[in-house]
Amino acid sequence: MDKKYINKIIKGDCIKELHKLPEKSVDLIFADPPYNLQLRGDLIRPNQTKVNAVNDEWDKFSSFDEYDKFTYSWLKECKRVLKKDGAIWVIGSYHNIFRVGKIMQDLGLWILNDVIWIKTNPMPNFRGTRFNNAQETLIWASKNQKSKFTFHYKTMKAFNDDKQMRSDWYIPICNGGERIKINGEKAHSTQKPEALLFRIILSTSSAGDIILDPFMGSGTTGAVAKKLGRNYIGNKFYNKIIWIQSLFKLNVHPIFAMS
Ligand SMILES: C[S@@+](CC[C@H](N)C(=O)[O-])C[C@H]1O[C@@H](n2cnc3c(N)ncnc32)[C@H](O)[C@@H]1O
Repeated sequence: MDKKYINKIIKGDCIKELHKLPEKSVDLIFADPPYNLQLRGDLIRPNQTKVNAVNDEWDKFSSFDEYDKFTYSWLKECKRVLKKDGAIWVIGSYHNIFRVGKIMQDLGLWILNDVIWIKTNPMPNFRGTRFNNAQETLIWASKNQKSKFTFHYKTMKAFNDDKQMRSDWYIPICNGGERIKINGEKAHSTQKPEALLFRIILSTSSAGDIILDPFMGSGTTGAVAKKLGRNYIGNKFYNKIIWIQSLFKLNVHPIFAMS
């Protein structure tokens, strides 16, 4: 991998930018793509206050077909840049994860696990019309069926009171001091908790590895990669305020490096 990309955030559309990266150059990918939430109208709490829901332009697609084409394009580039023993994680919700999983399999990525992130503090279903949606799904897949992917089984077991780490992870959503805010408002609508990335990066990459995030948003993947002694390449749409916040977040020093 060309050094100019290491520990950098690339500005621009990830499909175009991924295309410029050399093939077989990345050890691990974490992707948190648009979910195509298809929200219609405002969401109001029982006390008549408006919920700060995900209503960003980047999450809007005109049809499932358009979403599938977009998903196919970035996943195809991700597969191309992965090393032969590389692996990818993709996170999503019921809105998109089934479509994403099908496209991953169509591309020959080999699914290793689906991990359920159970939110210990989910947002309630304010209208009371459905179950409280308290989970997201992460698909972990290797580049192909033959890849000798990285998995630090013993590290994960030690991390889990000496019991085999399971595929249901109980982690709170990102809030409190971890949530980046500007004038009291969330800086990014879908900032992921560092604890989630910590588990992913620790279990499926090694010190010095190159970790790519095509949808880096507020910079969570880069920040955790750096803390764990890995290298990152992030890609994001340019937004000056979020950009400054991301750089601030990425100005961290490694706390330890494990292989
Ligand atoms: C679901 S968010 C990722 C949040 C991130 N994981 C975090 O913890 O902050 C998706 C991000 O991808 C960006 N995005 C959407 N489409 C993109 C594209 N085609 N190329 C690059 N970035 C894109 C959005 O601006 C948004 O910041």
